[in-house]
Parts: sequence; C-alpha cells; structure tokens
Amino acid sequence: MENRTVKADMTLSVDPVLIRRAGRILAEGGLVAFPTETVYGLGANALDPEASQKIYRAKGRPSDNPLIVHIARMEDLLRIASRVPKQAEALAEAFWPGPLTMVFPKTDIVPKATTGGLDTVAVRMPDNEIALALIREAGGFVAAPSANLSGRPSPTEAEHVAQDMDGRIDLIIDGGKVGIGVESTIVDLSGDAPEILRPGFVSRAMLEAVIGPVKDDPAMLDETKRPKAPGMKYRHYAPKAEMLLVQGAQEDVTAYINRQIAKAVQNGEMPGVIASEETKGQYAGGIVKSIGSRRDELSIAQHLYGVLREFDDQGVSRIFSEAFDTPSLGQAIMNRLIKAAGHQIVNV
Ligand code: TXA
Ligand code: MG
Repeated sequence: MENRTVKADMTLSVDPVLIRRAGRILAEGGLVAFPTETVYGLGANALDPEASQKIYRAKGRPSDNPLIVHIARMEDLLRIASRVPKQAEALAEAFWPGPLTMVFPKTDIVPKATTGGLDTVAVRMPDNEIALALIREAGGFVAAPSANLSGRPSPTEAEHVAQDMDGRIDLIIDGGKVGIGVESTIVDLSGDAPEILRPGFVSRAMLEAVIGPVKDDPAMLDETKRPKAPGMKYRHYAPKAEMLLVQGAQEDVTAYINRQIAKAVQNGEMPGVIASEETKGQYAGGIVKSIGSRRDELSIAQHLYGVLREFDDQGVSRIFSEAFDTPSLGQAIMNRLIKAAGHQIVNV
C-alpha cells in the first residue's frame, strides 16, 4: 500500500503530460482514481492480477466481488469477451461510450483476480475524456470499481475520493463533479436472454427500444434471492446513520417524517431528512437537505451520494428519506436509496 497520494487537477482540460504519467502508474501496477460520467473509479491494470488485488486491499472489498473492465476502443472488446452477441453490438452502438456495462463470457487474458473468480467479465466504455485517454495510455484495459471504501457511498467528486483513499492509492485525477451520479446500468448478455443486474441511467425502456424485451434479475426486488451481480448483495452505499425510506402520498410522507423528527429530537438525537426542492420547506427540526428537484430527475441522481456523505460528516444519527420514483432514473435512484436504508421502508 502506498503512503503518498498525489492529486492532479484536470478540471479545466485534459493534460497529456499528466495522462502519460497516470498511464505509466497503471501500466506498472499502481492505482489511479479517475472521473467517469457516472461516479469516480479506482483504476488498475485489469490484465495484471496483482494490480487488481491492490484494488481489493485499498477498498477493503470482499474478494468475490468482481470488477468492471473499462475499455476505450470497440475493437478491444473482442480481446476480453469470448462471445459478443448481436444484441450487445447494438447496445454498444447505441450507448457506448456511456453508462452501460455488459457482462460476457471472458477470454483467457482476463485473470480471475479481476472477475472475482467468475468465467464472465463485465465491460464498459465510459463517456469521459479523461477516462478514455487514461485507459488508452494504460494499454486499453482498466479494472475500476467505484473509488470509495467498501460500504461507503460512491464518490461523485474528487474530494470524496480523497476522504476515502488518501494514503491508499498513488494518484487521484480531479475532473470535477460527475454528470450522472449513480453507477452504470449492468446488463448480463452471457446467458440466453438479456437481464438487468443493476439499474442505472440507461433505463429498461431505453434498452428495450434497441433490443426488445429485457428481464430484471429477480434478486433486485427480493432481498432473499442471491443477486447475479455479486456486489449487489452487500449493504452498499450506506451512510453511518440508520436510514428509513418513507413512501406514500406526499402530505402523508411529510406528516410522518415530521412526527419522527419531533420524537428523535425529544430523545436528544440529531435526525436528518432527505427532501426535494419542492418539499424542503415543509419539515420542522433536524437537518433538512434537498437532494434535487422532482422536475429534474438527473439533479436527484447527481446529489444522492454527496448528501449521504454530508450527513455522515455532520454526525446525523438517523435519516428519513422521501421516495423518488421518477420516470426514467427512478429505478436506479430507488435501488440505491433502498440499499442505503438497508431495506428499511415504511409505507404511509
Ligand atoms: O458506473 C460504474 O459502473 C462505476 C464506474 C467507476 O465505472 N463502477 C462501478 O463498479 O460501479 P463497482 O465495482 O462499484 O460495481 C461493479 C458491480 C458489482 O455489483 C459487481 O458485482 C458487478 O458489477 N460485476 C462485475 N463483474 C461482474 C460479472 N462478471 N458478473 C456479474 N456482475 C459483475
Ligand atoms: Mg461500488
């Protein structure tokens, strides 16, 4: 493990000299955190088992949780995926570079240290100039989970990465705040029929418009089932506070949360509320944060993890969150909120 983490600022432009330096660190087996359009990634050379292992150590990540391999050129896909169905080509054409990860049977050059022991590999081409330049410079294949300590909310700005990873990795590239804020959609194309393993910015409707019917992994809705994306079983994205998700008509939600705040304050606790621009003025007491506007669902995704981190920093002991079933990103946002709440949901 390294004890000095260098920070490189590329918020204004992609600096080719720094990219070369970062690419060399990766090629030599080191760890570099970099921006993508979804969340910050913690990169290592995906074809080097020892480099991949360093990611698990730096994050404190369970070794059965496979990494996504990031590529920058379409032709590189065939070097790591042994079977690429027509549907995958169509999805890549429609959404790459972008927030879509696809799972394929892997070729022999991908070490099992990268795939958590699986015979499949998850691949994505991120839509971010810094990321693409870095991947090319590093040789084409960068394994990268989200750049947070295991169990913490994913980083949506470089400062979040520094909070978790300072002293554990070689370099952090600051590319400013990310544009999407929740991780990529994962679709499994290694089986008979395409299946969504993790919801993200690319919604089911967007996928189905390109390839027709797509199933959900049944484990996404049923916590007693074993998810096909091993990482989905962990209590991810979790704030330190106890969290409760409150669902129902807005006035009932507001009334319920206000009663809970009053109780918590009476018990000497410091409660927090995840509200929206439209509702933040309706709560009395506690720390109330707007996560975004219900009329702009991307703003909600962008602020979700940052708000959870802020509550951690402020030492809030209990968080009450409104539900956000927005039209396109709602499935991804609710999936993350339900996990953050450890499946504690109340319908009012
Ligand atoms: O947006 C993203 O996908 C971000 C950025 C950095 O690209 N990355 C990301 O990685 O979210 P991570 O490691 O936090 O989540 C990867 C998820 C885990 O749930 C893991 O189990 C699943 O992908 N996964 C990886 N390889 C898989 C495979 N071969 N089969 C099934 N699931 C896989
Ligand atoms: Mg993650």
